[in-house]
Amino acid sequence: MANVTESAVLGALSRVMDPDLNRDIVSLGFVQNLEIDRNRVSFDVELTTPACPVKDQLKQQCIDEVAGLGAVSVSVNMTARVRNAPVAGKELIPGIHNLLAVASGKGGVGKSTVAMNLALALSQAGARVGLLDCDFYGPSVPSQIGNFDRVQANEQRRMLPHEFQGIKVLSMGFMVERNQAVVWRGPMLHKVLTQFLFQTEWGGLDYLVLDLPPGTGDVQLSLAQSTPVSAAVLVTTPQDVALKDVEKGLRMFQSVNVPVLGVIENMSYYKCGNCDKKHYLFGKGGAARIAKGYNIPVLGEIPMDPNVQGKLGDGQPLLARRDDSEAAQAFRAAAGRTAARLSVISQDWAVPGPGAMEV
Ligand SMILES: Nc1ncnc2c1ncn2[C@@H]1O[C@H](COP(=O)(O)OP(=O)(O)OP(=O)(O)O)[C@@H](O)[C@H]1O
Ligand SMILES: [Mg+2]
Repeated sequence: MANVTESAVLGALSRVMDPDLNRDIVSLGFVQNLEIDRNRVSFDVELTTPACPVKDQLKQQCIDEVAGLGAVSVSVNMTARVRNAPVAGKELIPGIHNLLAVASGKGGVGKSTVAMNLALALSQAGARVGLLDCDFYGPSVPSQIGNFDRVQANEQRRMLPHEFQGIKVLSMGFMVERNQAVVWRGPMLHKVLTQFLFQTEWGGLDYLVLDLPPGTGDVQLSLAQSTPVSAAVLVTTPQDVALKDVEKGLRMFQSVNVPVLGVIENMSYYKCGNCDKKHYLFGKGGAARIAKGYNIPVLGEIPMDPNVQGKLGDGQPLLARRDDSEAAQAFRAAAGRTAARLSVISQDWAVPGPGAMEV
């Protein structure tokens, strides 16, 4: 049997395509640490996100391609290094690769729920994740995780976020007494937000998820404008009127040059316990109409499920319960698609990170 050579292995692996970046993994520089020892082949594949939705398929394709050369064994180690998405003309937060805003034109559609579960899904996939509750007037992160403790500062007067299931969390609700109203005006809010972003010990983060307050008014606009947000996802519900809200959200982010990665339709449908049928209580196809009308992808359709809510204040968001329900799977899929889309806008601007990590 002929020896398996480096060039043969790279040639075989160049047939493996990253479907999001639309290029082969060799020319993308993903194949690293290739070692060949008497027809035993091992290498790393460094993806752009540990939450890559096709990670397992890519790994299998790599194995199949190299095995096809006659290798006795093929060992593939999947790693990931998240890149920075571009933020035109804005100061980056040291150590944070991407700020991902979760927004909606309308209140109560499930932004906070989506933001929390996206953060958990990305973290569970192996990313380093933070969640910043930007809703100063109605913070919801403390009740979502059942923790209202004040945050502390370190000797350098930098805030120490709370940790919840591996994610760093910060909220106005950790700064004031429970149920105490915040009555600050714009400039003060801006100052506190800047402090939350720049004066907090976030550590290294791949994704800092921002849970935005409802609407597309001045507060949201200045937030999108004054912070180095890489991209946004819009949360919507299936009603027809939601289309208009999506349009408002899109316009707002476009006006400040923040790309919208796509739409997550929440409360899409309901499955009752007795049958396996999807009941579209608010109408069907809303997300698809949005995708078509505004040329942006649907990143996920999350069913309505009483378990999503949990008991208010019990500190157990759905993905924190290691749940495997359809809703949980929908959140994971949405997180994967979101991260993949973020990788796509990051690709031409790749900067060296602190090194690959195991996933
Ligand atoms: N898929 C779902 N199934 C069932 N309940 C849900 C679902 N998504 C969200 N909810 C519930 O709907 C309510 C509103 O959700 P959430 O607080 O996340 O919305 P929001 O858009 O952040 O609201 P606000 O605009 O006030 O910030 C919550 O009680 C939440 O638990
Ligand atoms: Mg909210």
